[in-house]
Amino acid sequence: MDDIFEPQAFVLAGKCLSTSPSLVIEDDENQYEFPASVEGEDAASLISALRSGVKAEEVISRYSPYEQKVFDRLKELQLVRAVKPALARSGLDVLLELEDLANDLLYRTLYTNVFWEKCSSASSGDDIPLNVIHGMIVENYHFLFRESYFDAPVLSYVANTGVRLSMNEFYAEEYGHDELLLKALNTLGVTREDLARTVPLPQTMALCNALAFWAHSDPLFFFSTLGILEGKDIKQDSFLDAAYRIGVDPALLKPVKAHSDINLNGGHGSLTRKIFSRIPAIADADVRRMRAHTHLFIELYDQFYTGIWEHYSTSPTLLRTLDVNGEA
Ligand SMILES: [Fe+2]
Ligand SMILES: [Fe+2]
Repeated sequence: MDDIFEPQAFVLAGKCLSTSPSLVIEDDENQYEFPASVEGEDAASLISALRSGVKAEEVISRYSPYEQKVFDRLKELQLVRAVKPALARSGLDVLLELEDLANDLLYRTLYTNVFWEKCSSASSGDDIPLNVIHGMIVENYHFLFRESYFDAPVLSYVANTGVRLSMNEFYAEEYGHDELLLKALNTLGVTREDLARTVPLPQTMALCNALAFWAHSDPLFFFSTLGILEGKDIKQDSFLDAAYRIGVDPALLKPVKAHSDINLNGGHGSLTRKIFSRIPAIADADVRRMRAHTHLFIELYDQFYTGIWEHYSTSPTLLRTLDVNGEA
C-alpha cells in the first residue's frame, strides 16, 4: 500500500520559455504556445506558482477561468506532473513527532501514576514508605547494572559514524553509574554481594529486556528512548526532591543526587536530539513502526515506576533475595 498515493500538488514538467507576448512552454520534443492573456486574464501567476507546486483544488479556488483552462491543457499535454509526497523525512523532524507522541503518553500515564503522584505531593515521611525510597534505588541499581545489555549492541552502529561516536561518548560517561547507587545502598548496609543474590522486579527486567531487544533489532527506535530515560525534559529530579522533603537520610541520597546531577549537567537528556540531528533521512515505514513501539515503551516505563510503588510499599523486606542453595 505504501506506493499508492493521491497527487497533492502539481509542478511544471516542461520549461517555460516566455510568458509574454505569448506563453511558450517546451518539453523534450516540442514547444507549445498559448495566448498570454484572454479577455484581460493572463496566466503568469499560475505559471509562477507551478514552479514550486500548486494543488488542483487551489487552481479552481484561486485562479481565473483562463488559468484553469491553461492548467487543464497543460495536464493534457503532460506539461505538469504530480509531486509524489516525500517518502522520508529528516531525523530531527521524525524525532520531534515521536517526542510529541511520547509526551502525550507520559502525561496520560507515567506522570499520573501512583509513584509520581506520591513524589509530587508527599510532605512527610507518612506519605511515602521508606521502603519505596530504598526500593527505587535498588531497582535503579538493577537497571543501571544491566545498562550494557542495551547500550552495547549500538556501540558498533555502522550505519552512521557520527551517531556511533556520540553513542560511544555517552557510554563512556554512563559506564559505572550503578556504582553510585551501590554507594547509596552501602549506607543501608546492603553490599554488592547482597545485591548479586537478588533479582529485580519483573517490571524492571521487562524494561531492560525490551530495550536490549530494540537495541539489537531496531537501533533507530532505541535511540529515541534515550532522551526519555535520561530525563530530557527534567530540570530537577522529582524523586530526589520528595526524598529530601520528607527527611530521608542525606547520606543515602548524596550518591543518588550525584548521579542525577551527571545526567542534568552532562546534557544526557539531549543525546537523542544530537543523534537524530545526524540522521539525514528516515523512511515513512520506519516512522510508523517507531510510533507503534513508542506506545509499548511508555507503557513499560510507566510499569517500572508503578511496580516499584506496588511492591515496595507493601513488602516487609527490601531485597528480593534468591536462595540459590534452597529448594526452588
Ligand atoms: Fe547514568
Ligand atoms: Fe546518564
